[in-house]
Amino acid sequence: MDVVFLSPNYPLEMHDYTRGLAEVGARVFGVGDAPAGALAPKVREALTDYLQVPRIMDEDDVIARVRAWLSGRNVDRIESLWEPLVLLAARLRERLGVPGMSHDAVLGFRDKQLMKERIAAAGLRVPRSRRVRSEAEVWAAAEAIGYPLILKPIAGAGSADTYRVDDRAAMERLLPRIRHVQEASCEEFVDGEEFTYDTICVDGRPVYENVAQYLPRPLIARTNEWISPVICTVRDLAQPAIRPGIELGRQVLHALGMGSGFTHMEWYRKADGEVVFGEIGCRPGGARLVDQMNFTSDIDLFREWARAVCWGAFEADVPRRYNAAIVFKRAQGQGHIRHIQGLDAFMARYGAHVCVENLLPVGAHRRDWMQTLVSDGFLILRHPDWATAKALAALAASEITMFAG
Ligand SMILES: Nc1ncnc2c1ncn2[C@@H]1O[C@H](COP(=O)(O)OP(=O)(O)OP(=O)(O)O)[C@@H](O)[C@H]1O
Ligand SMILES: [Mg+2]
Repeated sequence: MDVVFLSPNYPLEMHDYTRGLAEVGARVFGVGDAPAGALAPKVREALTDYLQVPRIMDEDDVIARVRAWLSGRNVDRIESLWEPLVLLAARLRERLGVPGMSHDAVLGFRDKQLMKERIAAAGLRVPRSRRVRSEAEVWAAAEAIGYPLILKPIAGAGSADTYRVDDRAAMERLLPRIRHVQEASCEEFVDGEEFTYDTICVDGRPVYENVAQYLPRPLIARTNEWISPVICTVRDLAQPAIRPGIELGRQVLHALGMGSGFTHMEWYRKADGEVVFGEIGCRPGGARLVDQMNFTSDIDLFREWARAVCWGAFEADVPRRYNAAIVFKRAQGQGHIRHIQGLDAFMARYGAHVCVENLLPVGAHRRDWMQTLVSDGFLILRHPDWATAKALAALAASEITMFAG
């Protein structure tokens, strides 16, 4: 089993997927833009060979170099779990005749308008929306869809350039600020709670499923610095409040022609119980969501993903023992972390429930919270009872304060 894995060294989570591939018996051929000498030890140990390319986003160049590097040797899989490279992986598969999802299928997971059209065509509930490429098209779409609405890039990530627009005057003010966005999606604003539906699939069939809730909704968390965003996996997937979202997710996978690998979907539940599709990618959720899923069931999904894509098998038992919550912290003030208040007291009282404490240490420079959801660090904690898990996360959010200066 020979696997070409794109960008094994970046982002950080890729180290563990690379390790997982080696652990299930694959020979792993890494392709990335990091110099071989800069690879993390875990990555280096897991790789059979590595090709450094000058620009990993330059599709034609990477394809030519990979082809020359393999020089006719067959490989069994070409994989990427990083959103900007999933289409490149598909293109490489097609050029080299390697099995896996087609470029067209992957496009349905990447282009936010196309995905909604395909999902709507299967009779599923998506926000009313239109693709817009000019100001005139935005105005026409707003007319048809009505306010409030959401305007966001077709290939967005991390809520970048995503705006809720409440009326015409707000639209007038917004348009000059988003001229750099070439192509956007103009959507009906769906009011409700926001969840994920995550899977590992084998030939389109989910062999692993997870749901997590965002507290609060990402757009609110990503536009208010004082908030400590929380994401909590839902232990009990059988409860009636969650089932319709899982059902929607399964139908979405079918509608988009999922193959084998990770998926990460977002969905909304309105106050009246209606569930609405949000977006989906054919890669895992970022910001440590896979660690949370692992802590939910004490499993290793980095390795189980590898088993699923290499061997079409999923062997782990998945006892859902905990609701696992991640709490992202943002320091007050700018510059370097000077002081962390409340952490020792929190650990002394609730440390038994804390799986990971990964806050920036005193002296470290603050991260840009607009650029990375991980912000100035995070805690992962877990509890079998949903209300208690949520309450512990809320306590960590309010009682632990980081100060920078
Ligand atoms: N139609 C909508 N109705 C209500 N809220 C929306 C809608 N579209 C997007 N949002 C809000 O904006 C956030 C970001 O949108 P979306 O998930 O589509 O983009 P993204 O930038 O790819 O997100 P991510 O942060 O997952 O990378 C959503 O999580 C949600 O809170
Ligand atoms: Mg999203």
